Amino acid sequence: MLLENNQRVKDKVALITGGGSGIGLAIASVMIEAGAKTIITDIQAEPGQRLAKEIGADFFQQDVSNEARWIDVLQQINEKYGRLDILVNNAGISGKALGTDPETTSLEEWQKVQKINSDSVFLGCKNAINTMRNSGGGSIINMSSIASIVATPFITSYGASKAAVRQLTMSVAMHCATSGSKVRCNSVHPGQIKTPMLEKLFLEASNQAGIPVEDMEQNFLGKIPLGEFGEPNDIAYMVLFLASDEAKHITGAQFVVDGGMQLNG
Ligand SMILES: NC(=O)c1ccc[n+]([C@@H]2O[C@H](COP(=O)([O-])OP(=O)(O)OC[C@H]3O[C@@H](n4cnc5c(N)ncnc54)[C@H](O)[C@@H]3O)[C@@H](O)[C@H]2O)c1
Repeated sequence: MLLENNQRVKDKVALITGGGSGIGLAIASVMIEAGAKTIITDIQAEPGQRLAKEIGADFFQQDVSNEARWIDVLQQINEKYGRLDILVNNAGISGKALGTDPETTSLEEWQKVQKINSDSVFLGCKNAINTMRNSGGGSIINMSSIASIVATPFITSYGASKAAVRQLTMSVAMHCATSGSKVRCNSVHPGQIKTPMLEKLFLEASNQAGIPVEDMEQNFLGKIPLGEFGEPNDIAYMVLFLASDEAKHITGAQFVVDGGMQLNG
């Protein structure tokens, strides 16, 4: 039976990282609309704090690559709510769009991107599983990318970091399923979603190619069979489904939301 009033995550407690912008903010807004008590974290206190207040979420400043801060944030959530049902490991960076093919990527750039995009997801899963187990189970959603599935020689570090997230998700799912924790774990793979991250990529790529940013945007658009960039809510609705009990039989799976981009190979 479908739930009344779309309250699909009513009274669940949800933590969304990188909630101060783009996809994370859309996910937090949709969670609140669907009845969840929602906490967003972001490395940037401003605008994170202000936007959290606007949508009715709690806010913590958090660098997701810092394990001590993960422990602290989870403890504070436990003290206030006594549980955690949903964790969305969404925070991430694109890294430099310039000079990042496999030969020109610096080790420093590589390590920075792995730390923020991949180490962070490991730390989030590692530290949240027990709180979720003690809550009777839950749903972890890890934000990967179609960059984890196709070659990305222009953003080498980014593609590899998102592939690590995809693989880690399967291990977490299997571990949780076979240890009786009732915690599910799935990955979501956006294509090109109009957010500040994508706008930055257009700008850097157009500067590199020496063409107007509008032309670069059209080049990117040409790779999407459905002919439109995605909106943050396109990802938020997928995450909401995976967070809800309607997805109770789904774990260790990969959900591509890309307007058909993957069909191009
Ligand atoms: N936009 C896209 O087209 C697209 C495509 C595929 C995957 N993704 C992924 O979706 C997620 C959200 O991306 P977005 O497009 O909304 O980007 P965005 O830049 O708009 O938002 C990312 C947020 O993460 C925060 N953040 C960055 N580093 C952090 C850290 N160390 N600790 C905590 N917070 C940190 C930023 O402050 C920002 O608020 C990312 O993981 C990204 O890789 C985005």
